[in-house]
Amino acid sequence: MTETSTHVIVVGNEKGGSGKTTVAMHLIVALMRAGFKTGAMDLDIRQKSLSRYLENRAKWAIKNDLELDALPIPQLFPAPSSNEDSRERAYAQETAGFQQALQKYATCDFLVIDCPGAYTHLSKLAHAHADSIVTPMNDSFIDFDLLAKIDPETGEISGPSLYSEMVWEARQMRAKAGVMGGINWIVMRNRMGGANAHNKKRVGEKLENLSRRIGFKLTKGFGERVVYRELFTMGLTLLDLGAPGIPTRLSSMSHLTAKQEIRNVLSLLRLPEKKSKRARPEKEVA
Ligand SMILES: Nc1ncnc2c1ncn2[C@@H]1O[C@H](COP(=O)(O)OP(=O)(O)OP(=O)(O)O)[C@@H](O)[C@H]1O
Ligand SMILES: [Mg+2]
Repeated sequence: MTETSTHVIVVGNEKGGSGKTTVAMHLIVALMRAGFKTGAMDLDIRQKSLSRYLENRAKWAIKNDLELDALPIPQLFPAPSSNEDSRERAYAQETAGFQQALQKYATCDFLVIDCPGAYTHLSKLAHAHADSIVTPMNDSFIDFDLLAKIDPETGEISGPSLYSEMVWEARQMRAKAGVMGGINWIVMRNRMGGANAHNKKRVGEKLENLSRRIGFKLTKGFGERVVYRELFTMGLTLLDLGAPGIPTRLSSMSHLTAKQEIRNVLSLLRLPEKKSKRARPEKEVA
């Protein structure tokens, strides 16, 4: 067994473009600005959006002559991946590589892992090592389908989806390995409001029901804001805006609202608790 006190937060779902990288980056900056030593892992091997976000941040800091204190940057190590042709060998190599990668973050208080918008073996490994899982979803039945299947005749929930089953397996593995505390799973309803209020109300009711059945905490996520795209190119987050040397770019009202949205998620993560050294699952995902 390996030992670590790093709290692992996995940002995932198997839906592209639901805001995972944006949420991951905001969590990283929130944690660093709260004084926690924070690491970042980008498991989206193809798009590498989190890595690019962080590169943009470093470039923006240099261009604007900002010190690390003014614009904190997390530790980022290359994600493990395998070029093996055989699936078994590739999986074994990724499993070993993932374990080694985790060790590099052993001195961090938190590690935030950004997952791709589709199933991969690395994403499954990350979920199996999560203390917390944050799942951003856009507020529609298309995204709801990632969490549970709905009977088209009755409109009732007919069973969990593949993604929920993966979280369930991760919880089982953790319990079997005797790791203290379950996985804290938070589902964020992003980009709420706007058109089709009736549909959103129905999504909300179904989500409340599902949260009790499969065990996640439901929270209002990030509102719809054009500024998120612009922030990516600068490598900034809403939490950086208005700090010394960094322009505000938002009205003070929407800035306050945006910060409150981030605080909602942070409060569910029970941040100030620093975990004591404890065991990780011995059995690895095959
Ligand atoms: N709350 C929001 N309001 C407006 N735009 C947003 C919001 N959240 C994210 N976006 C924008 O939507 C796009 C997709 O977001 P993001 O890259 O965070 O999603 P993702 O889930 O990581 O995507 P992928 O599955 O491709 O990795 C980006 O251009 C981002 O700036
Ligand atoms: Mg992404």
